Amino acid sequence: MKKVNLSPERVTLKKLRDNRGILIVAEAQKNIPFKIERVYCLLEMQLKPRGFHAHKNLRQVMICLSGSCKILLDNGESERTEQLSYKTYDGLLIDKMVWHEMFAFTPDCILLVLASEQYDESDYIRDYNEFLTRANNEAPAI
Ligand code: TYD
Repeated sequence: MKKVNLSPERVTLKKLRDNRGILIVAEAQKNIPFKIERVYCLLEMQLKPRGFHAHKNLRQVMICLSGSCKILLDNGESERTEQLSYKTYDGLLIDKMVWHEMFAFTPDCILLVLASEQYDESDYIRDYNEFLTRANNEAPAI
């Protein structure tokens, strides 16, 4: 399988600041590299990490609206950990076939997630060994 680039894929959001505050804009197929089919939010996180899965097809952009957290990205060949923080005014692309784990949430952390598909449990790979097998055995993308 063609490995995704694990250099941090930061998505720059449009930021408009004036004397009333800040307005942040994400637009499908502009700064978000897909058509948005679903939006969900993670908040009031406890100390427990989340994620621990990859998706077969889903692409997502995760935006931190408050506080901060860390996210581990793993493509089956290499991994890296990124910090997601309010005030960087950007998002992080979590591509298909990237195992991800979110942790180290501050109490005020709020994550907004823009997703390329509607919810489909069959798109999840929740077993890490299955993920490694798929990531290393799938035919190269043409
Ligand atoms: P999951 O994606 O596993 O959460 P996380 O990666 O943050 O740990 O989702 C948790 C539960 O919520 C799981 O039972 C699936 C359900 N869920 C939906 O029903 N719709 C959704 O859009 C999402 C993201 C999750």
